[in-house]
Amino acid sequence: MFLLASCLAVFFVLPVALSDSLKIPANLNDLNPPTDFRIIDRQLGELTFSWNDSLSEDVKNNAIVKYIFVYKYFDSHTWENDYRLMTTTHTEKFELHRGVYVRVKNVLLDKRKKVMKESNWTVKDIQPPPGVEETSVFNFSCLVYDISYVNCTWNIGNKAPSDTQYLMYYRQDQNTMRCTQYFTDVQGRHGCHIDQGRIDLEENVLICVNGSSRSATILPYYIEFDPQHYEMYNPPINVEVLPNRTVKWDKPPGYAINNECFEYQLKVTDLSDNFIELISVSGETKYILVNNDPTRRYSVKIRVMLKHCKETKFWSNWSNEVFIEPKHPFNVTWTPHIFALIAIPIGLLLLIAFRRYKLLEVISKPIPDPQKKFKELFEEYNGDFQKWIGYQIPISKAEECHPVIIEESPTIEA
Ligand SMILES: *[C@@H]1O[C@H](CO)[C@@H](O)[C@H](O)[C@H]1NC(C)=O
Ligand SMILES: *[C@@H]1O[C@H](CO)[C@@H](O)[C@H](O)[C@H]1NC(C)=O
Ligand SMILES: *[C@@H]1O[C@H](CO)[C@@H](O)[C@H](O)[C@H]1NC(C)=O
Ligand SMILES: *[C@@H]1O[C@H](CO)[C@@H](O)[C@H](O)[C@H]1NC(C)=O
Ligand SMILES: *[C@@H]1O[C@H](CO)[C@@H](O)[C@H](O)[C@H]1NC(C)=O
Repeated sequence: MFLLASCLAVFFVLPVALSDSLKIPANLNDLNPPTDFRIIDRQLGELTFSWNDSLSEDVKNNAIVKYIFVYKYFDSHTWENDYRLMTTTHTEKFELHRGVYVRVKNVLLDKRKKVMKESNWTVKDIQPPPGVEETSVFNFSCLVYDISYVNCTWNIGNKAPSDTQYLMYYRQDQNTMRCTQYFTDVQGRHGCHIDQGRIDLEENVLICVNGSSRSATILPYYIEFDPQHYEMYNPPINVEVLPNRTVKWDKPPGYAINNECFEYQLKVTDLSDNFIELISVSGETKYILVNNDPTRRYSVKIRVMLKHCKETKFWSNWSNEVFIEPKHPFNVTWTPHIFALIAIPIGLLLLIAFRRYKLLEVISKPIPDPQKKFKELFEEYNGDFQKWIGYQIPISKAEECHPVIIEESPTIEA
């Protein structure tokens, strides 16, 4: 009997439920908007809202209910984010000093997730926190560097009293932390340094710089940002130029990022006239130099940023500089042959010149008494001119070898 009842129930209820889900109940024509829309928690600029959907059980049983939550800053024209929520609470980070409108509405969907009916919006405006205008910091920016350090810098408010003390807070993953290492940089900008490991660089971070002064209420400044956009990478390493003019390098170590995401820039400087050529290389770690003059000297350095998977705002610093030395007109392997080709004739010429010089020296000697000389020819060489001349013009070995006296410097005995 019980079995039969449940069988019948399935038989009759199932088709009814299916057809019900496809038709809009008559009482949905005036769908109530959410009520009691309020802030139930506030952490730095992170607000948690809750509301009551004011929908009857009947409506909720016949449709899928979702809530659409959007917000718009006072100074903006666009509603941001379009959350389709399942619950009547939502947490969102805001740049609160801009003032913000938040609104929420009920949406009924059929079983195929098609919108059947939407309520009117319920709107709430969140006024900026109190404070004197132009006392808040401005021109705020952060820089993620050396894999995991963060420096944030700002200009102090133009109308901030001189006793104003600013403090920086940051919030991520349910934790609010106070920055402790304040500094003033070379340009006179104020800032705070966040140590390694305190920020998860893969998640947005919300920052608030507020301040206190005895004579004015300081307007706080809020900003939310994605740290990956503000990352300044370390420069590429192992830059070298191969003999075939291929420049190669390695991506900066320590980052879990595919090489295809990186954009490199080569700065090639002609050192003879300081002409600079900037070359872009996407995702590769080599480049073949083609346009330069092989007889000139060049320097090459490289920097990197993200451009393809994600875009960063800053270039890295430049890598170490490498130099391309001018190429000599001869190929290195030919040098000994060419040397020989040049050296042999020169050597021969020198030898000839040397002999000539010796001859000339002999010839230019004061002419000896011919009578004596000729007496020799006839008395000692029996008139043999050839033998006589061989004897007369010797190239003395002794002349070339001067004895050298080496004086030893006396050793000073202590
Ligand atoms: C929705 O807004 C319109 C126009 O402001 C108003 O006439 C209507 O009564 C509202 N509906 C409900 C259910 O509040
Ligand atoms: C600045 O913000 C922090 C964190 O919300 C808060 O604890 C502190 O009281 C604020 N300081 C001032 C002067 O408003
Ligand atoms: C804003 O900050 C940048 C550095 O990030 C600085 O060069 C510039 O001068 C600042 N602008 C003003 C108006 O101070
Ligand atoms: C960041 O700030 C610290 C502390 O003042 C400083 O030593 C460091 O050079 C800064 N780094 C960069 C990249 O600006
Ligand atoms: C340049 O030389 C390197 C190694 O000597 C070689 O791997 C590379 O293929 C060469 N490139 C060209 C374009 O010849």
